[in-house]
Amino acid sequence: GIVVSSLLKETGVVTVDPGFMNTASCESEITYIDGDEGILRYRGYPIEQLAQRSSFLEVAYLLIHGELPSPTELDAFVERVNRHTLVHEDFRTFMGTFPRNAHPMAVMSSAVNALSTFYPESLDPFDPETVELATVLILAKTRTITSYLHRTAVGEPLLYPDYSRGYVEDFLRMTFAKPYEQYESDPTTVAALDKLLILHADHEQNCSTSTVRIVGSSHANLYASVAAGINALSGPLHGGANEAVLKMLTEIQAQGGDASDFMRRVKNKEQGVRLMGFGHRVYKNYDPRAAIVKKSADAVLQQLGKHDPLLDLAMNLEEIALSDEYFIERKLYPNVDFYTGLIYKAMGFSEQMFTPLFALGRMPGWIAQWREMMSDPTTKIGRPRQVYTGAVERDYVGVDAR
Ligand code: ACO
Repeated sequence: GIVVSSLLKETGVVTVDPGFMNTASCESEITYIDGDEGILRYRGYPIEQLAQRSSFLEVAYLLIHGELPSPTELDAFVERVNRHTLVHEDFRTFMGTFPRNAHPMAVMSSAVNALSTFYPESLDPFDPETVELATVLILAKTRTITSYLHRTAVGEPLLYPDYSRGYVEDFLRMTFAKPYEQYESDPTTVAALDKLLILHADHEQNCSTSTVRIVGSSHANLYASVAAGINALSGPLHGGANEAVLKMLTEIQAQGGDASDFMRRVKNKEQGVRLMGFGHRVYKNYDPRAAIVKKSADAVLQQLGKHDPLLDLAMNLEEIALSDEYFIERKLYPNVDFYTGLIYKAMGFSEQMFTPLFALGRMPGWIAQWREMMSDPTTKIGRPRQVYTGAVERDYVGVDAR
């Protein structure tokens, strides 16, 4: 709706657009989505091709720098990120100070915010070299932080990085290796996680990315902006949905596995009952990421030899939804979060680690969007208007007279 406001002197009008359903907050060259056609492209490259043929750090380079790297540029970038994966010893101590049952998303955002205190030489948002340093530090240290989130939760010692291994391979080693055993990496798991990180790497102006941009628009540093993005991602309507999906599937299974009965409750809009992992603000056709993840979930579980009845249940729910008026009318399809948790679970991650894995994958997108905004001279501080609906002017009455 358009509301005429006598308060806004310059134009006389303010648009009220709850949830920013129709408001573009910026122009961007990074990610293209066509929600009706189910298309997603990073810098023009279809997500299907990148998921099939690229690697997470190459995609990070593409999103952040705008073009695919040459072989030399890619080697240099990967080497630089790998070399920065080690964190300060005091930072390791800091990671161990949270309560054992703390939600890892809270620890992750605190940890990313705290990085700025350990690397004060990387804070200037307008010096290109400093921004590049902060970029590399965040990509490198969040990988280490994410593995430490798992290890502190299970009470295992925090391992040091091994520079000779790849980004994803060493992340899995640092997360799951037993200190007293030789670690053998599993190529299926490495490839599947690499693909999942690519699928999560950017998604234009979603809730967390808009948060990163609005925090950065006050010229807050990259760490502060990304930490805010992690907090936005933690909610169950956004990144937290991957954890919520698995909780939902487990609950349905525990109550006898009746998918139709659960769907009845969803359609009756019983308090708090939504089909988590379904629906999207922009995709009104199948989420292309979900299509890739669904295939991957089937293949990975088979290759790992882990049949999970929850995957059958998820497919059953999807099948019901695809031919049900309620979901058809509202154009509700599985989103990226519907099947990811099943893959993470098969890999050995606890439910609470699912959203931190999403955040790890989203780092390149947040960084690229922040950098695009900061280097645009037309950027202004983010400051929406409002339409005031409160009391008209009235006189204060002392407490004795009330
Ligand atoms: N289950 C049941 N009904 C749903 C669902 C769902 N998952 N999603 C939307 N609807 C219904 C709503 O009740 C509403 O119905 P109504 O018109 O009768 O009132 C209609 O569909 C439109 O839904 P809104 O909530 O208005 O759509 P919006 O664009 O604001 O929300 C969102 C999108 C938040 C993703 C929503 O679909 C949802 O809550 N999904 C479940 C959580 C989820 O999976 N989130 C992950 C999103 S993807 C991501 O962040 C990576």
